[in-house]
Amino acid sequence: MKLSLVLLGLADLAAVWADPTWPSQIDELEEIMFQQTSFRARRFSGSVSPCSSEASGPGRQNAAEWLRTAFHDMSTANTFFGTGGLDGSLQYELGNSENLGPGLRTTLQFMVPFFSRRSSLSDLIALGVYTSVRSCGGPIVPIRAGRIDATRAGAVGVPQPQNSVFTFQQQFERLGFSTVEMIQVTACGHTIGGVHTAQFPDILPAANADANGQRSLDSSVAVFDNRVVTEYLTSNTTNPLVVGPSVRINRHSDFKVFNSDRNVTMNALADPTAFRNACRAVLQKMVDVVPPNVALTEPIAPYMVKPVNLQLALMNGGSTLQFTGFIRVRTTEVPREMILNVVITYKNRDGGSTCGSAPCTITTTVQGVSQGFDDTFAFYPILYNIPAATGISSFIVTINHVDGTSETYDNNGNEYPMSDAVFLQPLQSCILGSTGVLRVTAAVRNDRISQGARAFISFKVPQTNSPVPLLGNATITMEQGNCAGRYTFFSANYTITGGMAYESNFDVINGDRMDAFKSVSLLGGTCRAFANPIACVPVGPSTSLTTSTRSSSISSSSGSSSSSTTSTTASTTPSSTIPSSTIPSSTTLSSTTPSSTTLSSTTPSSTTPSAPVASPYHRSRMGDYQLISCWTEGEGVRALNARSYAADNMTLEACMGYCAGYTYWGTEYSRECYCGNTLVASSDEAPMEDCSMLCAGDGSQYCGGGSRLELYSLVGTQTRTSSPTPRPTPSHRAEIGRYDLVGCWSEGVGSRALAAKHTASSDMTNDMCAEFCDEYKYFGTEYGSECYCGNSLHSSSASAPQAECRMRCSGDGSQFCGAGDRLELYMDPDLVVREPEQPAAAGDFVALGCQTEVQGRALRGPSLADDGMTNEMCAEFCAEFEYFGTEYGRECYCGDSLPETSTEAPAADCRMLCAGSRTEFCGGPDRLSTYIKQQAMMV
Ligand SMILES: *[C@@H]1O[C@H](CO)[C@@H](O)[C@H](O)[C@H]1NC(C)=O
Ligand SMILES: *[C@@H]1O[C@H](CO)[C@@H](O)[C@H](O)[C@H]1NC(C)=O
Ligand SMILES: *[C@@H]1O[C@H](CO)[C@@H](O)[C@H](O)[C@H]1NC(C)=O
Ligand SMILES: *[C@@H]1O[C@H](CO)[C@@H](O)[C@H](O)[C@H]1NC(C)=O
Ligand SMILES: *[C@@H]1O[C@H](CO)[C@@H](O)[C@H](O)[C@H]1NC(C)=O
Repeated sequence: MKLSLVLLGLADLAAVWADPTWPSQIDELEEIMFQQTSFRARRFSGSVSPCSSEASGPGRQNAAEWLRTAFHDMSTANTFFGTGGLDGSLQYELGNSENLGPGLRTTLQFMVPFFSRRSSLSDLIALGVYTSVRSCGGPIVPIRAGRIDATRAGAVGVPQPQNSVFTFQQQFERLGFSTVEMIQVTACGHTIGGVHTAQFPDILPAANADANGQRSLDSSVAVFDNRVVTEYLTSNTTNPLVVGPSVRINRHSDFKVFNSDRNVTMNALADPTAFRNACRAVLQKMVDVVPPNVALTEPIAPYMVKPVNLQLALMNGGSTLQFTGFIRVRTTEVPREMILNVVITYKNRDGGSTCGSAPCTITTTVQGVSQGFDDTFAFYPILYNIPAATGISSFIVTINHVDGTSETYDNNGNEYPMSDAVFLQPLQSCILGSTGVLRVTAAVRNDRISQGARAFISFKVPQTNSPVPLLGNATITMEQGNCAGRYTFFSANYTITGGMAYESNFDVINGDRMDAFKSVSLLGGTCRAFANPIACVPVGPSTSLTTSTRSSSISSSSGSSSSSTTSTTASTTPSSTIPSSTIPSSTTLSSTTPSSTTLSSTTPSSTTPSAPVASPYHRSRMGDYQLISCWTEGEGVRALNARSYAADNMTLEACMGYCAGYTYWGTEYSRECYCGNTLVASSDEAPMEDCSMLCAGDGSQYCGGGSRLELYSLVGTQTRTSSPTPRPTPSHRAEIGRYDLVGCWSEGVGSRALAAKHTASSDMTNDMCAEFCDEYKYFGTEYGSECYCGNSLHSSSASAPQAECRMRCSGDGSQFCGAGDRLELYMDPDLVVREPEQPAAAGDFVALGCQTEVQGRALRGPSLADDGMTNEMCAEFCAEFEYFGTEYGRECYCGDSLPETSTEAPAADCRMLCAGSRTEFCGGPDRLSTYIKQQAMMV
């Protein structure tokens, strides 16, 4: 099986490969790997797609940097000793002169938000190889998971251009690669990307480079093809590692490698198919070089059917378990137009098929689609109220096709497990972002409360010696709180330090059950009280369905295993215990629910479904009201606070009727309705896709989301607003400090318009961004909360109508902060951007050149490290000495002599900007910008 995988395409792979049994340890990586664009996209390919994307600077192709990152991380392995390999140790080796250039650091920084206890940095680096190669049109490199991250730097030993072919062979042998594989991995790695003058001026003098200071390794820089091979063989290559100045100084490393078996391997790679197959195999081998204690999984393949973000939550005072989430269906071979609907058939808590007054089925139609490089997926939303009396233990999924056929997925015979023993209460949990205070509330079934509850929290702790944080964790005991029906709440407070609280996740645990890997970023900023709890139903350890059923007012025939034919009494049941109808309500599909109990009176009784189901959509106009957008709740207050109610038959019409006469109304969280004449100032516009919950009473309408209002206002509202604090009308600020408004500009194509640095904040303003970009000529705000800086504007960015920059700043509703793909662009007209240089003199010293560092330090006098380091500062500190040198941006060394072992290095090695000045250089990794006393020079 393993062998054949290498030879199969992904389509073939799915044919022979069953879904993993869910849940699986690869679930998080699978999502990062395949959900690339559109609905619920993770956008891991964001900075390498298209293949030509440049994110760490002009001429620096990200896809090539990602491949280089994987190679540099693994190539210090020693397979004889079983050390190193792809282990993320590169994060601690960035200062090493083997790892020159900004691209390695930028790559790791991009990966940080994806890094978690279920996606190690080293697995993400491996995934980066699949992603960048595929983005450039290369083969599908199979990716296994399970790598373990190193916690410190590994050995040195990245192959360098000046090595002899013999050294290369030895180095690759140490990595476990034959000479043939050495040639293959070099050719496959060098089909994209180029050499940069900044790092290798002797190989690529500026005169040979393009305007961005780089030269590509073949004539198709952004295509994963074999031109790097064919151009070499026909001797018309311009690869600087084959021809040009590198030959004279013996740094033509590609030539040395390609020629090492008299071109036998290169001739074989001249066949495009042979090239693709070789690259697939050798790049997989490259990422699979791991220490012997690492056990890798089978290659990650996309699930055909995958439950996503499932969540139970106690609702309606405790009488129902609200079941939310999605079933994700792979639609690569069976297009979603062929799918009529998806039906979830669940089992109650005891494994039986009695689910209160309703059938144990949930019918759903598509809400959104997403794409990977080779796959498409459709998402079928779940929003269903399960009676708390009967609960849930597992489910199976049936996909009904429009042609009347259907397929059932049962998780490899195990059914999809779903425990109602313990689960997070999302609305009673919250995160106070600025302080990192997390409040977690879980519901525990009453027969299990003697086992208590605890929370396991996994968070990120920034490290000073790496751009990647470490993972910290804490296990805290939760305190027992109130009871509501069959469940009791447990909660705990925990302060997440390190400033990265939103990237944390946690489990709530009760005995051997848990609700795992909950993302803090999905929690709201305020915890809500649990409304109107029903009387506590203490249940003994041997709870049975009979007990449960008796205590509810539903008289269903308990114990019946032939399920859904029993409950025709639904209409006489109090509404609080009626599960809300399925989504969409009008489509309970008869073919999968024999003798359907017809929750919806409009259900056609036919057994052959005909018309496709209407998809839900946002209603732009409701009577005298118009849809404004999706809006956030206020900070610590309700956005609309005049009146409210909640009901399981909520519809937009019902809310509008209830709020008649008010200026604003909005629906939230499927079943809540709020009215008001004013909208609090801290409430703000949110992306429309945040409002993705269907109305509990009408599955064809949207009723907001968690802490999100589907907000309507009276047409022509302005005249009727009686707000004491009217929401300010936003404006475009002509000036922010010393910056002038340039206008509304589009993002760059293939590169950020402003690429020097960026940040994002939920309280972004133009002033905040100006301060963050203080040392740059330009700054721009985008998408309400993002901020970008740069000294130049990418040439592909273009002026757009000012009106297109229409998103309010997340931190100040009175100013605009760009929009999607649009920058609110400002410029300091007076700032003259100076190219950084090595000052010729500093204090009484004159520049001597760039010198290598030696074992035990070249300059052995006093030393200083300072975040304000400049050459001038170091000159002053070393005033009593004959020499000083600045190193690694912020270090300063003094000495009275310079040992002979410290030799002159290329000026380009000393290109790190001083920590205290962006216009001068302060050495580099293991390189000193060296200065000598002026008098000494003259002696
Ligand atoms: C080499 O020759 C091929 C075929 O004529 C051509 O397509 C390619 O662009 C040439 N490469 C360079 C670097 O000139
Ligand atoms: C291999 O091919 C290159 C490029 O055509 C050529 O320069 C070199 O001499 C060849 N090597 C041998 C051993 O033939
Ligand atoms: C929690 O942190 C400790 C100390 O860093 C670590 O040894 C342990 O493996 C972590 N536990 C989990 C489950 O990640
Ligand atoms: C958590 O903090 C809130 C707010 O300070 C407090 O009301 C609550 O009692 C705390 N809960 C626990 C379990 O300590
Ligand atoms: C919604 O349900 C309530 C009972 O909970 C009922 O009074 C009301 O009429 C229903 N509304 C609609 C529109 O069906």
